[in-house]
Amino acid sequence: MAVVEPITRRAAPPPGVAALFEPVAVNGLTLANRIAMAPMTRYASPGGVPDETVARYYARRAANGVGLVITEGTLVGDPVNVAPEGVPRFHGDDALAGWADVVRAVHAAGGRIVPQLWHVGIYREPGFLPAAPALPVGPSGLDLAGEAFAAPMTGAEIATAVDAFARAAADAQRLGFDGIELHAAHGFLIDQFLWAATNRRTDGYGGAARARARFGAEAVAAIRQAVGPAYPIILRFSQWKVTDYQARVAQSPDELAELLGPLTEAGVDAYHCSTRRFWLPAFAGSPLSLAAWTRRITGKPVIAVGSAGLADSDFQDAFEGKATEPATLDRAVSAIGRGEFDLLAVGRAVLSDPAWAAKIRDGRTDELRPFDPAALESLA
Ligand SMILES: Cc1cc2nc3c(=O)[nH]c(=O)nc-3n(C[C@H](O)[C@H](O)[C@H](O)COP(=O)(O)O)c2cc1C
Repeated sequence: MAVVEPITRRAAPPPGVAALFEPVAVNGLTLANRIAMAPMTRYASPGGVPDETVARYYARRAANGVGLVITEGTLVGDPVNVAPEGVPRFHGDDALAGWADVVRAVHAAGGRIVPQLWHVGIYREPGFLPAAPALPVGPSGLDLAGEAFAAPMTGAEIATAVDAFARAAADAQRLGFDGIELHAAHGFLIDQFLWAATNRRTDGYGGAARARARFGAEAVAAIRQAVGPAYPIILRFSQWKVTDYQARVAQSPDELAELLGPLTEAGVDAYHCSTRRFWLPAFAGSPLSLAAWTRRITGKPVIAVGSAGLADSDFQDAFEGKATEPATLDRAVSAIGRGEFDLLAVGRAVLSDPAWAAKIRDGRTDELRPFDPAALESLA
């Protein structure tokens, strides 16, 4: 099992950030604080198997004040669901044994952890395509640029993908994970159904927002059936796509409500709203963020994310290095105080500085390590 360095902490967080360090519950799971580690693909699991280095990487963040670790996207077991070397699988005895070690290490460090269950669908980039003659699956066979590349998903292919999510969730529960996060964001399979640009179906899976949510809702329902009522299911969604920052799955709060309704009814316990800057308004005419709208619409706990702890930068600069900026946390504390969201996920700041959360908690902001793209090269 991975061993992590011990930590020292002050009696109480500084008043300005205290709200981030209050406990919060998601379907019976109590988290020690409101800081989550955002899911980040690291390409560091050889042969798709997370090893000791990966376990230490996550445990180090858990030991240093992250209340909930959300793992990098990890592939559910559908033969057409593949990703480049180093992306971890969530199927196969070897990969699941590796994940069991990750869970043990994070729990030993006092943390909580959920895997991000990922089906890439018809994401047409090198390494993400199944070996020929197989083709990737997508709702209408359109890639993210709208180009026809495969046949629309058949009913059998839909059932296979739904089943892959359910089996992965059951495995997560068996391995001791504290819940699961479903990756329904950024233009991958579930989002390919949510997004009208990639979903042109005319059957019950396409058209109006409720229908576009049907595939995701079927995945959630199958997961719920597999894990029972008391196991946290978090769903991450976004407006933006990896290929298009201006893309939108919902044009208005009403459409967002239509989209989220079936997902909530199917059993989502918490939403994770992926934005580039968590404080920006989601729709014209209201200052509310996507997280705040989601909380208002669903009444569920919500995780916000996007540029926490970073200087106000353009997301395009993600890999160019930006100073760490505690001021964004004032916005988060205010938003939590106004009941706009419940947890704050932190990506690049926590990737660069494993002790980021502990330093914020202990008022050691002078010790914060700025985001440095070099951090992407290792699992320190
Ligand atoms: C290196 C890297 C890998 C990422 N991989 C994933 C992923 O596997 N799944 C996902 O949903 N988001 C992924 N993201 C997006 C992050 O979870 C997060 O939403 C984004 O970095 C914004 O948060 P930040 O400003 O705190 O970094 C990734 C981001 C980075 C920088």
